[in-house]
Amino acid sequence: MSPEEFRQAGYRLVDRLAAFLEALPDLPVTPGATPGEMNRLLPPDTPLPGNGEDPERILDRTVDLLTKHSSFNGHPRFLAYITSSPAPIGVLGEFLAACMNPNVGAWIGSPAATQIEAQTIQWLASLIGYPSGCAGLFVSGGNVANLTCFIAARTAQVGDKLRSAGLAGTTGGRLRCYAAGETHTWIQKAADICGLGTDAIRWIGVDRDQRMRVEELGAQIEQDLQAGDRPFLVVGNAGTVSTGAIDPLQDLATICAEHNLWFHVDGAYGGFAAAVPEIAANMRGLERADSIAIDPHKWLYAPLEAGCALVRDPRNLREAFSYHPPYYTFDPRAINYVDLGLQNSRGFRALKVWLALQHVGREGYVRMIRDDIALARAFFDLATERDDLEPLAHSLSITAFRYVPPDLKTRVGEAPVGSYLNSLNQRLRDRLEAGGDYFLSNAVIDGIYALRLCVVNFRTSLEDMERLPEVVARLGSELDGDLRPSSLA
Ligand SMILES: Cc1ncc(COP(=O)(O)O)c(C=O)c1O
Repeated sequence: MSPEEFRQAGYRLVDRLAAFLEALPDLPVTPGATPGEMNRLLPPDTPLPGNGEDPERILDRTVDLLTKHSSFNGHPRFLAYITSSPAPIGVLGEFLAACMNPNVGAWIGSPAATQIEAQTIQWLASLIGYPSGCAGLFVSGGNVANLTCFIAARTAQVGDKLRSAGLAGTTGGRLRCYAAGETHTWIQKAADICGLGTDAIRWIGVDRDQRMRVEELGAQIEQDLQAGDRPFLVVGNAGTVSTGAIDPLQDLATICAEHNLWFHVDGAYGGFAAAVPEIAANMRGLERADSIAIDPHKWLYAPLEAGCALVRDPRNLREAFSYHPPYYTFDPRAINYVDLGLQNSRGFRALKVWLALQHVGREGYVRMIRDDIALARAFFDLATERDDLEPLAHSLSITAFRYVPPDLKTRVGEAPVGSYLNSLNQRLRDRLEAGGDYFLSNAVIDGIYALRLCVVNFRTSLEDMERLPEVVARLGSELDGDLRPSSLA
């Protein structure tokens, strides 16, 4: 492609994407396609093209394809999983990053990009009130950010010998980590991959607000110590995936300090809410964490992928990840990200976040995060006012609720009614998803199947919240008419 062809194709692509962004609110949020239909549209066994084709035509066709057959997390009524509306400046940042294509594994491959990543890490730490001077790096998302911190914790707590001798070669009892039952499934992957096994996880119970019970944590640690086990890590949630619950971080930090355990905070979703002054009090204790995972591709509206691991003491990352093979002789005075994490060749994920932080600044983010929280709250209040919706939980920008036919409202405690409501709401969610107007996900709270909405989206408006109760109630009532067993008539 000549520079001129690149210019033409690029202009055309940007024009088409700008038109797409304009049209987005009026497109269906989900395409309503089945896996079978997509298979027929793009058969995996299509032969590889033998000869090349005009790039503008390929790009045009691809924009058409993706516009017709995608679920849009940038859509104002995408309220399902925690993937945000991508900030347009971040989209341009991805384009710029791909064109420069620095390999941010070693300083020499990316002098400016390395410096930008380092600066972005400090900006993110400052945004959430985490101590400056921490180390950190960009990774693919929350799973890997938490895993990175888990590995750092394991090495720091067990000691250097672990890296050569493995778990079998270390003494001191079985490693144990502690997390609320509501913790995201990354912790199972981490315990498994790191050789501890998922049985090493002590799942601690939660209170009625889905926050970890601190007394139960203390008792479990004591019991494990007496049994000769080796507690090493406590995970606190700064916003759980299901209901946005924030564990009592201050108390967890204190327990960790008393027992000399590593305190990790999973702030992949909610960590950035610590920047909002009226939320900061609930997040107190986060600044005492040894490590924290935060995901710019969630509440900083970065296009996928952008997760971030922060570790208070930079030595802990280096001691967990650094090796010095003879074929890499990098300048030891510089940051070489290969020494701080899992990846060697690394893309320039920081750029889209660095640009967005400058575009809107701290105040812009505080305002947008605050708006998202207010929208989820507004929906909770609207649900409270209706006799056919039952609000179940609200924290940060997540609200969980369910449809309850008015004549069953006084009977929700009866087991057959509870089980019917679970299947009714499950069908309701599926029907909503297929319809393409709103996209919600679900949570299970104390055995109750709940519809769940999460707003991490600067495009969602109050009007989107105000219209939703009626949409859910209409669908719910229709389905109830079709599904209600005669025994519950
Ligand atoms: C609290 C929390 N932790 C971790 C994750 C995993 O993040 P990712 O999907 O970016 O790997 C999520 C995802 O929603 C989450 O909400």
